[in-house]
Amino acid sequence: MARVAVVTGGTRGIGEAISLALKEAGITVAANYAGNDEKAAAFTERTGIKAYKWDVGDFDACAAGVQQVEAELGPVDIVVNNAGITRDGTILKMTREMWEDVIRINLGGCFNMAHAVFPGMRTRKWGRIVNIGSINGQAGQYGQVNYAAAKSGIHGFTKALAQEGARFGVTVNAIAPGYIDTDMVAAVPADVLEKIVAKIPVGRLGQAHEIARAVAFLCAEEGGFVTGSTLSINGGQHMY
Ligand SMILES: NC(=O)c1ccc[n+]([C@@H]2O[C@H](COP(=O)([O-])OP(=O)(O)OC[C@H]3O[C@@H](n4cnc5c(N)ncnc54)[C@H](OP(=O)(O)O)[C@@H]3O)[C@@H](O)[C@H]2O)c1
Repeated sequence: MARVAVVTGGTRGIGEAISLALKEAGITVAANYAGNDEKAAAFTERTGIKAYKWDVGDFDACAAGVQQVEAELGPVDIVVNNAGITRDGTILKMTREMWEDVIRINLGGCFNMAHAVFPGMRTRKWGRIVNIGSINGQAGQYGQVNYAAAKSGIHGFTKALAQEGARFGVTVNAIAPGYIDTDMVAAVPADVLEKIVAKIPVGRLGQAHEIARAVAFLCAEEGGFVTGSTLSINGGQHMY
């Protein structure tokens, strides 16, 4: 039977490319999203991949969402924690809400999803968890104390959970993308983006499929010896 994967934030941007790459690898994919029903419906129409709406920042919603996917598609073997948001501002302008939203969704979402799937993976002695971090969690970024803290936390979370999963065939890895051409980056002011691209040695933004192929690599049957690692995919911008 085909493996089953949940890709959070899997209906657009990097997540859409990941959902497609896993489908191409013969995996049955459930793409989660937060609220953009229109984009999710268009995605399903285009790809034939089913979309499921829940907030990854909500612990109970993740448990219920995984339960629904398992009832419809079978046990979840793979989780890609890709859902993420930005609420940028310098610390002087950052509200407690901006801080809490980013920590709750970007970092809390990884815990909530892993908590829901880990027992089953451990029992079946096979699992793949891939967490999408960020170059800004490795290097920091002006105006992003919330985002950098959450993404940096993802890298620590990955190494700790990898140790818990190792004896049970459950690998846990992270990817730290640099700047990728998606809606999230389109929200960055043009003059700021120009300065960012000038600092990328390969001279361009990354493409979503360049992250997706690395996720497919980490989720492969043959990937059992790769765990606790962080793969930086950033055009040479930060060599970590
Ligand atoms: N783009 C970059 O340059 C870049 C660089 C480094 C890291 N990353 C990371 O890569 C991941 C994907 O980024 P992206 O640029 O593809 O983002 P994006 O284009 O903004 O798409 C975000 C996706 O996450 C979903 N999402 C947001 N909040 C959610 C929640 N609470 N629960 C469930 N789903 C939620 C969105 O659902 P809706 O469609 O319903 O809103 C959407 O599907 C993020 O974790 C981001 O931090 C991106």
